[in-house]
Amino acid sequence: MHQGSKTSEHIPVLLEQTLTYLDPKGGDSYLDLTGGYGGHASAVLERTKAPKHTVLIDRDPAAVKSLRDRFGEYGVDIRHADFYSASKKLAEEGKQFDMILADLGVSSPHLNQASRGFSISKDGPLDMRMDTTQELTAEIVLNSYSEAALADILRRYGEEPKARTIAALIVQERPLKSTKELATLVAKAWPGHSKVHPATRTFQALRVAVNNELGLLEASLPIWIDTLLAPGGRLAIISFHSLEDRMVKQAFAQAGGDRYDATLRILTKHPVVGDESEIVFNPRARSAKLRAALKQK
Ligand SMILES: C[S@@+](CC[C@H](N)C(=O)[O-])C[C@H]1O[C@@H](n2cnc3c(N)ncnc32)[C@H](O)[C@@H]1O
Repeated sequence: MHQGSKTSEHIPVLLEQTLTYLDPKGGDSYLDLTGGYGGHASAVLERTKAPKHTVLIDRDPAAVKSLRDRFGEYGVDIRHADFYSASKKLAEEGKQFDMILADLGVSSPHLNQASRGFSISKDGPLDMRMDTTQELTAEIVLNSYSEAALADILRRYGEEPKARTIAALIVQERPLKSTKELATLVAKAWPGHSKVHPATRTFQALRVAVNNELGLLEASLPIWIDTLLAPGGRLAIISFHSLEDRMVKQAFAQAGGDRYDATLRILTKHPVVGDESEIVFNPRARSAKLRAALKQK
């Protein structure tokens, strides 16, 4: 399978570990729920040589274009959708897969392109949409939600201890237009020394809210486990956020365990994390956690 020379600035995280748990074999079918720039997909396809049994999903039109450029000519089924809508559709179509991967969150191009509005260090519009066809942006959230709703988002999705202070500052200073304005505003709530930028939690919380990241994951997990994963199939999920990891852990525990009728056999007792050498070359790997499970036959 063609690797593509400009495989983007995105380096797939925990690639070898993911392949170990997905365990691709010639002819296996594969569903990649977060195709991104095709790093994981390319490595899987190298092993399965089964593009016609491969479905790649992404909600970002730029990622979908890149996936089509890279894999379209081989007959891979590439769909622009959020993974919940795509999963419901695939279930209606009666599809099942030997391997399913969800590598959650944002890609490096999201963080590196100021215009996408995800980055604290680059000034850009307050956008933060993974799907640029979606209406809701961070600007709408920041400039129209009530102070209480903003504090709730910062507390729930960012675990931000100063959620109320920051929400009050936002309401006082709005309308806000740029990521720099927001980052500077939040820094006011955290004077003094800080290891990470004080707005890190705020940016994360807004991103999760704008993209409904937790809601879509929660709704999708049962479809992946109960319906789309074929008997004997392997499911791997890489998360970057403690709330996501907790959700995956709970869904696996509910379907797994040592009951006689368990749906899943959990392959990772503890989440798999990147080693120092990976983290040096790929800082995104620092917070990555991989969990994997096998569907009982
Ligand atoms: C971490 S990147 C995946 C990178 C990919 N594994 C690779 O090797 O290139 C996550 C991708 O998932 C997409 N994404 C995140 N949440 C999604 C969702 N709920 N539905 C569909 N795509 C999603 C993002 O747009 C992004 O392109």
